[in-house]
Amino acid sequence: MKVGLLGHGVVGSGVRTIIDEGATWEVRELEVTAILVKDETEMTDPRTTLNADDIINDPEIQVVAECMGGLEPAHTYAKRALQAGKHVVTSNKKMLATFCGDLFDTARENGVTIHYEASCGGGIPWMASLDRTRRVDDIVSFRGIFNGTTNYILERMFHENRDFADMLKEAQKLGYAEQDPTDDIDGYDVRYKVALSCAKAFDAIVDAEKILTYGIRNITAQDLQFCRDSGYACKLMGKGEWHTDYISAMVIPVFLHADDVFANIPLNFNAIESNSKTLGSAAFVGQGAGSLPTAHAVVQNVIDIWKDQDSEINPKTRVPIDNQFHQGIYYIRTVKDALLASITDQRVGDHAILTKKISVLEAENAIRTLADQDLFIAEVAE
Ligand SMILES: NC(=O)c1ccc[n+]([C@@H]2O[C@H](COP(=O)([O-])OP(=O)(O)OC[C@H]3O[C@@H](n4cnc5c(N)ncnc54)[C@H](OP(=O)(O)O)[C@@H]3O)[C@@H](O)[C@H]2O)c1
Repeated sequence: MKVGLLGHGVVGSGVRTIIDEGATWEVRELEVTAILVKDETEMTDPRTTLNADDIINDPEIQVVAECMGGLEPAHTYAKRALQAGKHVVTSNKKMLATFCGDLFDTARENGVTIHYEASCGGGIPWMASLDRTRRVDDIVSFRGIFNGTTNYILERMFHENRDFADMLKEAQKLGYAEQDPTDDIDGYDVRYKVALSCAKAFDAIVDAEKILTYGIRNITAQDLQFCRDSGYACKLMGKGEWHTDYISAMVIPVFLHADDVFANIPLNFNAIESNSKTLGSAAFVGQGAGSLPTAHAVVQNVIDIWKDQDSEINPKTRVPIDNQFHQGIYYIRTVKDALLASITDQRVGDHAILTKKISVLEAENAIRTLADQDLFIAEVAE
């Protein structure tokens, strides 16, 4: 099966390497025949081209692997590939979470599919596991540490009493964090992954922007001190929960009990768990990023397509996000804590409170009116 690669960076070059090396008989059935690069200096392989049409219009190419990143032109190229009757495999969570309704419809209209294992949890077989579980059972909920960068920062801050700004700089130096870390530390990267997990787990297209999203940008040593002293660990979690006509979904730092299986997920690892009626809880831990682990997931999807072209059915039903019934206890630190009296259960340090058990939307409404740029919120496990 001939594969065209869009993008030859960290993930794309990993896909090319795995397929060229052909370690197994299944991989040896695949061949990368064209690679889109951006400028002439990158044309180091005879298969490279500067023209996406060389891939999209090539009748021999059956699968296009989009590993370019960004919204455009990745979205347009993916759409045109689907319209040309090619299956698309993508590692690009931001693009797919933003345009999944349009792309899933285009795929269906053209009798092809989009596969996106690598977009969520990197090399972890998360999507494949959801597919498999759903053959027998309905997924009720999922939760996970979907972002290795923030897990690395939180782990080091927690155990070494380090400052957020220092740890971010170190993560950038190690290549774990981007120079513009916004998507990671403000939770948007996890938001895209939660949206795509909803697609797979619940067969639902959701509006990613409606997923309530809090990050770790404002976390301080004081917050982690409270967390540690109270017997918790702090993780940035993405969560989704199926209800018959809506989905509750959010990204939020959580103070987890120290004996929670996710409390000790180390450094830049990811960990994701699904819950379904008969299987119960099933969790995966592994490398959520990196050239070869992520490329492994892309190649797995290409093999899925080669083995059974109809294995993937992309969702078509739009389901609203609604968090009004998600109740919890929240740790909130803000200099304007005096204005939170109506939802406060107890004070737990300088300008920090624990709320009564309230809906997350009640917490959101209360903190939105404060307009405090430095506020930190975490859900506290009960
Ligand atoms: N890296 C990971 O571990 C990882 C893990 C999971 C998912 N992902 C996702 O996978 C995607 C790719 O990530 P990456 O880390 O491989 O990024 P990357 O190293 O920056 O690679 C992307 C490549 O695509 C090229 N490119 C961008 N626009 C192009 C265009 N219009 N025409 C031709 N080439 C173009 C880039 O060229 P220039 O550099 O010249 O712009 C770059 O070589 C992203 O969506 C990312 O979120 C990455």
